[in-house]
Amino acid sequence: MAVFRGTFLGLVVLTLVVSATLPAAHLEGPNFGSSEPHGLFPQFYQSSCPPVDNIVISVLQQAIEKDPRVAASLIRLHFHDCFAQGCDASVLLDNSTTIRSEKGAKTNVNSLRGFEVIDEIKAKLEEACPLTVSCADIVALAARGSTVLSGGPDWVLPLGRRDSKTASVEISERNIPAPKPDLSALTAAFERQGLEETDLVALSGGHTIGFAKCLFVRQTRKSVCPRRDSDNTPAPLDFVSPTRFDNSYFKLILGGHGLLPSDQVLLTGNGRQAAELVKTYAANESLFFQQFAKSMVKMGNINPLTGLKGQVRKNCRRVN
Ligand code: HEM
Ligand SMILES: *[C@@H]1O[C@H](CO)[C@@H](O)[C@H](O)[C@H]1NC(C)=O
Ligand SMILES: *[C@@H]1O[C@H](CO)[C@@H](O)[C@H](O)[C@H]1NC(C)=O
Repeated sequence: MAVFRGTFLGLVVLTLVVSATLPAAHLEGPNFGSSEPHGLFPQFYQSSCPPVDNIVISVLQQAIEKDPRVAASLIRLHFHDCFAQGCDASVLLDNSTTIRSEKGAKTNVNSLRGFEVIDEIKAKLEEACPLTVSCADIVALAARGSTVLSGGPDWVLPLGRRDSKTASVEISERNIPAPKPDLSALTAAFERQGLEETDLVALSGGHTIGFAKCLFVRQTRKSVCPRRDSDNTPAPLDFVSPTRFDNSYFKLILGGHGLLPSDQVLLTGNGRQAAELVKTYAANESLFFQQFAKSMVKMGNINPLTGLKGQVRKNCRRVN
């Protein structure tokens, strides 16, 4: 009886503790795009690696000065990481005996860039704070820094992601949408990640910088490409301001000049609100910036490894 009562009391106390902490986990505050309890928080490295922000920004500044396109490449890298098994740096792993690299996935091969910049940031961080800052957080920090250094918005970035010990070509190919003029396929791909049409349109605004191969360019926009042997030639996604993070991507779509079929379809597809959002962001850059920041945080919160899951890699290209 005493044992029973003890257990019962224990259960009551446990229930009280659990119900007291659960709602707290949902009260992450307005800085978080996702209301899910993901366990990340902005001050994660405050005491373990104070110079993390400065190191990331100084490497980015030099890298972007050398190759302005790399800012775009790093923003895209975060997207392709998060859509394949969550934001866990799976995309950075090279082929090995146990890993089939996502770099070989159809959407990534001969296309994803910026890996050397991530390596450089990681090397500097390993000198300053060994085995502390995860590769997944470096990718998220590099995406934010690249946006800011290109003239785009800044945001409070939840940190504490850990790195995967696995990669998946299959998941990467299944989850990252093709640049086709099919709005419901794009919406569905984002919905599978917990992202809404608002996120789809705002994040597509990442195409305000960077390049796409002529292979993908819409028929009516092929004039930006040379006539011959042009499939692999890069064309600017935003030919008005190819290295400036602004809202001209949306203005171009309004004028019928979206580069990829998946860009133009945001206006011409029969989405409930996509076309309205394209018009809104074309008219109001600060509204676009606000939503892009919110949606980047939300994308960055997709299925992170936290606590004791995964590891902090020493070299982003291989498991420890
Ligand atoms: C909505 C679905 C999306 C599709 C279908 C798509 C498709 C593409 C394609 C085909 C390219 C050119 C790749 C190449 O030619 O090698 C590209 C480039 C790019 N994408 Fe997306 N994308 C999408 C969403 C996003 C998102 C969510 C982001 C980030 C927020 C993003 C950021 C970029 C950037 C910055 C580039 C230029 C990269 C560079 O110049 O290296 N894209 N995208
Ligand atoms: C990884 O190895 C596989 C063969 O096992 C190959 O098909 C693929 O292209 C390689 N990926 C990279 C990025 O080298
Ligand atoms: C643009 O959006 C901002 C919110 O970011 C709002 O405060 C402002 O009034 C809007 N400007 C116009 C012209 O609608």
